[in-house]
Amino acid sequence: MFSLEGKVALVTGASGALGRDISMALAGAGADVIIVGRNADRLRETARVVEGKGRKSHTIIADLSKSEDIARIIQESIDQFQCVDILVNNAATNVFKKAEKFTEEDFDLIFTTNVKGPFSLSRQLSGIMKTKGGGNIVFVVSQLGQTAMNFACLYGATKAALMQITRSLAFEWAEYNIRVNSVSPGPWSTGMLEPVFKDGVTEDALIRMTPSGRLGGEGDIGGAVIFLVSDAARHITGQDLIVDGGFSICKIV
Ligand SMILES: NC(=O)c1ccc[n+]([C@@H]2O[C@H](COP(=O)([O-])OP(=O)(O)OC[C@H]3O[C@@H](n4cnc5c(N)ncnc54)[C@H](OP(=O)(O)O)[C@@H]3O)[C@@H](O)[C@H]2O)c1
Repeated sequence: MFSLEGKVALVTGASGALGRDISMALAGAGADVIIVGRNADRLRETARVVEGKGRKSHTIIADLSKSEDIARIIQESIDQFQCVDILVNNAATNVFKKAEKFTEEDFDLIFTTNVKGPFSLSRQLSGIMKTKGGGNIVFVVSQLGQTAMNFACLYGATKAALMQITRSLAFEWAEYNIRVNSVSPGPWSTGMLEPVFKDGVTEDALIRMTPSGRLGGEGDIGGAVIFLVSDAARHITGQDLIVDGGFSICKIV
């Protein structure tokens, strides 16, 4: 039920912590993985992990805020594998500022990278999935799409937008056998959390707010993605799966 043998997956932000974990899990379940990001050294590490699982990898260095790069991702994927069965939209950028400090450039950068890029990629790859008779898309969102935090006004807004895009695409593409879901990680100790720590929130405080007693880490996100894109979740679409050790159910700091 959980096997992805014979499938081709594409993971954006595969040079980052969660992207590497997701790529490793997809390869472990049997998929070949196209890994996308901007940092060539860190992409090489992810490629090594995928190949270490006995699967093929193909690296594409691309900036998701550029439409010409998105067109290149599609073309290279087709040239290399002829299809893409699974898309994991994991890349994101974070411009953390007080609301009144945001510039128009900040707004454009964060919405272009976090919303327009993944939407475009999904839309263009859905054509290939339709031709093949189906596929799976997962958006990596955040609980900051549903709750407020200092400096996270625009980042949270992009994640809220993706959650609604998840539901809308799931609704529109169900007839093509394309399932669309999202995962919401809780706090993970990656570069993405740095601005939160700069604001005086400590790792200990976040751990105290997490019933499992720790932040997310290696090996914690991949299984949720495997589940959503596998046959085990074949009747699940338009849903968000929270992966946070219980962080979201805890209200006492
Ligand atoms: N860490 C957390 O606490 C947390 C919590 C909830 C949700 N999330 C979500 O989890 C996902 C992964 O984040 P992470 O924690 O693994 O952070 P990370 O290690 O900083 O990874 C971010 C990834 O996004 C890529 N990226 C950013 N801008 C890009 C662009 N313009 N074009 C192409 N790639 C771009 C980066 O690529 P390069 O490094 O190659 O530039 C990197 O691979 C994100 O969607 C984030 O919002 C994280």
